[in-house]
Amino acid sequence: MCGIIARIGHGDATETLLSGLENLEYRGYDSAGIAVQNGSGVKVRKCSGEVDELKSSLEQSLHGNMGIGHTRWSTHGPPTDENAHPHTDTAGDVAVVHNGVIDNYDELRAELQARGHEFDSDTDTEVIPHLIDDYREQFGDTERAVREAVETLEGSYAIAAIVDGEERVYAAREGSPLVLGLDDEEWYLASDVPAFLEHTDEVIYLEDGDLVVLEPDDYRITDVAGSPIERSVDTVDWDPEDAGKGEYDHYMAKEIDTQPTALSNTIEGRVEDGNVAFEDLPAGTFADIETVQFVACGTSYHAAMYGSQLLRSAGVRADVLRASEYDQTAGPVDENTLVVAVTQSGETADTLDAVRKATDRGARSLAVTNVVGSTAARETDDAIYIRAGPEVGVAATKTFSSQAVTLALLTQRIAADVPTATPVEDREAMLQSLADLPEHVETVLETTNAESLAREYFDSDSYFFIGNGLGHSVALEGALKFKEITYEHAEGFASGELKHGPLALVTPETPLFAVATGGDDKKTKTNAIEARTRGAPIIAVAPDDHPLADAADWQLSIPDTHPVWAGLLANVQLQLVSYHAAALLERPIDKPRNLAKSVTVE
Ligand code: F6R
Repeated sequence: MCGIIARIGHGDATETLLSGLENLEYRGYDSAGIAVQNGSGVKVRKCSGEVDELKSSLEQSLHGNMGIGHTRWSTHGPPTDENAHPHTDTAGDVAVVHNGVIDNYDELRAELQARGHEFDSDTDTEVIPHLIDDYREQFGDTERAVREAVETLEGSYAIAAIVDGEERVYAAREGSPLVLGLDDEEWYLASDVPAFLEHTDEVIYLEDGDLVVLEPDDYRITDVAGSPIERSVDTVDWDPEDAGKGEYDHYMAKEIDTQPTALSNTIEGRVEDGNVAFEDLPAGTFADIETVQFVACGTSYHAAMYGSQLLRSAGVRADVLRASEYDQTAGPVDENTLVVAVTQSGETADTLDAVRKATDRGARSLAVTNVVGSTAARETDDAIYIRAGPEVGVAATKTFSSQAVTLALLTQRIAADVPTATPVEDREAMLQSLADLPEHVETVLETTNAESLAREYFDSDSYFFIGNGLGHSVALEGALKFKEITYEHAEGFASGELKHGPLALVTPETPLFAVATGGDDKKTKTNAIEARTRGAPIIAVAPDDHPLADAADWQLSIPDTHPVWAGLLANVQLQLVSYHAAALLERPIDKPRNLAKSVTVE
C-alpha cells in the first residue's frame, strides 16, 4: 500500500510527480504530498485527501528539478494532514516518503526524542528522516547516513529521500516494491511502472537490500555496505495509453470494456496444435508434482478456485487456500507440492508470506501474475504472466478474466505432465472454444442490459449471488465486486448452501443473481426457485433458452459456449451490474473507501 515516486533531471519535477502520483493512487488515497528541492531549501506540500486536493492546495507553484511524492493508505495514524508524507526531520532539511511498515519505530522514536528530535505525526515513517539526520550529524556524509539508517530499520520499506542543498535522491528497498525508470535526461523511482510510463519504458526492478543514489546525470546502485551492484535494464511492453483513463469516466469502465483485447493477449501463442504451451515451462516440467496448492486473496482467490476445480477434474490433487490462512490450512507440503501464487500485483503481503512458508517447507513455487518484475515473479521458481495490461481501478476486473483463463490453461499444462492425471473428457472442444472467448465478451459488452437492471434494483436491501461448480467462484466474485464498489451488502454462495441459513435473509427486497454455466446447473435452478418462492427477484445470468432463464424475473444473457468459459462471460455481466449500480449510487468507483489495490501489509 502507499505509492511513492521520485524524479531528478534537468526540467521541473512538480508536474511529473503529481501526474505520477495520480497513476499510483490505486495504492492508496488517504492523503498525498510532494517535496521538491530548488536551491532555496526542501519545500513540502501535503494534505489529507486525494492527489486532486493536493493539486488545488498548491496555491503557489512549487518548482525544482528534483523531488519526491507519496499517496497514502493509512497504517499508523489517521489520514490527517500531519500524517501525510513526505515527513521531515526537526529542521526540515531531510524529507522522506515511505511505503511499508517500520516495526521498531516505537523504540527508535523514543531514542531519537531523547536526543532532542521533535516529532509531528503518529506515523512509523517519521523516524526515518530523523534517523538520517542523526547519522548525518554523526558521520557528516548523507549517503553513509542513509545506509546506517536502513540498517537500523526493521520491517518493510521502499523509501526515497531528498536533503537540503544536495542535488541527489537517495532511495532504498526492503520488502516493498521499487522500480527505477531510466530516461535520456531524467531518472525516476516509483512503487510501480505506470507512475512514469509516459516518460520511459526502460526500467530496473530493484531488489531487497538495494540502495540507489540518483543525480541529474548519473545513478548508482549499491548494497548496504556501499559496494556497487549491477542490475539489468528491462523494457516494459505496456503501452502508456493503457495506464490512462482515455475517454472513459472511470478506469473500471475502461478495464471492463477492454477485456476482449486483454484476453486475446492472455491467450496468444498459448494453445498450439491442440496443446497448451507456456514459454519456459516445457513438457515434463511438472512430472514430479503430486499436489498443487493455489494461494491467493480476494478476487485472485476466486480465480484460483476456478483453477483448482479444473485441476481436480483432471485428476490432480489440488487445493485452493486463502493466503492469509495458509499456516492454519496448508497441511503437509513437500518437494512434490507445487504452490501457485495467484496475484495480480505480485506484491500482496499475505500471498507472498504463504509462498515463502510453502517454499521453506520444500515446495516448488510458481507465480501467476500481471506484473513483470513483481516480488512474486522474482521470488518464485517460475512465473507466468497473465498479460492483462495495467489495471488501475481498485476493483479487479480484466485481471480476473485473464487470471482464470491463464489458470485454466495452466491446469491443462500440469495435467499433461502428471502421470496419474486423467485427461479432461472434452479438452479439445474446450481449448477450441477458448479462441471465441474475446469475441463472446465483446458480444456481452455490446448487448448487455446490465444498466437497466441496475436501475431497477440499485436501492434494494441486500444482494445475493449463487452458482455451483465453476459458477460458485463467479458468484463469490460477483458479490465481492458489488459490495466493494457500491457499499451495499452483497454475499455469494454455492447454490446448494442457500437453504442452509442464508435463505432466512431472503425477501422481496433482496435480488438474487443465479449464475448458470451451461454445465450442471440443476441445483442453481432449484435453489433460485426456492428463493423466488420467498419473494426474491431472480436474475438469471445464463445463455438464452437456458432453463434457469424461465425461472427468473430478469436475464443477463451470455453467449452459448463451453461451460468452462461461460462463467467468465457471466462474470462480465456481473461486473457491469456492479459498475452501473455504483454509478447510480454516486460512489467513487475507482477508489472505494478504505481500500487499496496493492495490499502490501498483513
Ligand atoms: C478486489 C480486489 C482484491 C484483490 C486482492 C489480491 O476487486 O482487487 O480483492 O484481488 O487484494 O490482490 P492481488 O491479486 O494483487 O494479490
